[in-house]
Amino acid sequence: MGRVTTATLQEMKKRGEKITLLTAYDYPTARLLDEAGIDILLVGDSVGNVVLGYENTLPVTMEEMIHHTKAVARGAKRAMVVGDMPFLSYQISISEAIRNAGRFLQEAGAQAVKLEGGKERAETVRALVETGIPVMGHIGLTPQSVHQLGGYRVQGRSEEAAKKLLEDALALEEAGIFSLVLECVPAPVAQMITSKLRIPTLGIGAGPFCDGQVLVTHDLLGLYGGRVPKFVKQYIRLYDQMLEAVRSFREEVRDGVFPGPEHCYDFPGDS
Ligand code: KIV
Repeated sequence: MGRVTTATLQEMKKRGEKITLLTAYDYPTARLLDEAGIDILLVGDSVGNVVLGYENTLPVTMEEMIHHTKAVARGAKRAMVVGDMPFLSYQISISEAIRNAGRFLQEAGAQAVKLEGGKERAETVRALVETGIPVMGHIGLTPQSVHQLGGYRVQGRSEEAAKKLLEDALALEEAGIFSLVLECVPAPVAQMITSKLRIPTLGIGAGPFCDGQVLVTHDLLGLYGGRVPKFVKQYIRLYDQMLEAVRSFREEVRDGVFPGPEHCYDFPGDS
């Protein structure tokens, strides 16, 4: 089966076939998601909170993103790999944006990049697309602007805010994005935006009417002990199972149960 491309995603929207996108930050997870048939693996800057232990995504650097994207690209054979452009890697100048976005494709093996923001990013998007770099947009709750937004909260609830989201979406589409993430947006607003765009929308906390759905893999798998946002469905609680397994190891070592003879080489009495 060939690689998922921007054309594949466009065809899926036309056919009404839902698109799946999950985050991946390492090689084994990328292999697993790829084998499961997930269409897009996003190396999100959420790696900052989820894997690196930062408080938010702002400290994540280009070097960290390239390192994680390389690992994911080695594991993904069919899925499209999208590298998330970290804070300040695309806002300072268009030439820096092109250089940084280019690194995701040239050095890290991604097929596309994602960046946050609305019409204020249209010029940058256009320049990247003209350079031959496919761009995924991201509006609604944009975590790199958490301080400006005043926290992680639903966006586009007022009529005026919903209108602004639509204007942003149309400006980004016009600039050449191939898909658009809508994060934490009321379901009817996401539905209205989806119906107005030719390109696919990918919703996270944006209801069922988007062309595809996004989740952070660690949320879906329950790899955290704590609470998850309302929009997350936890299909399994791996944290609890892993905790149980590690506690069993500790107890068995302390009780002299592990390693047993079957785990040893040339154990006394073995023939
Ligand atoms: O960084 C990330 O994981 C994201 C998704 C939540 C869309 O941007």
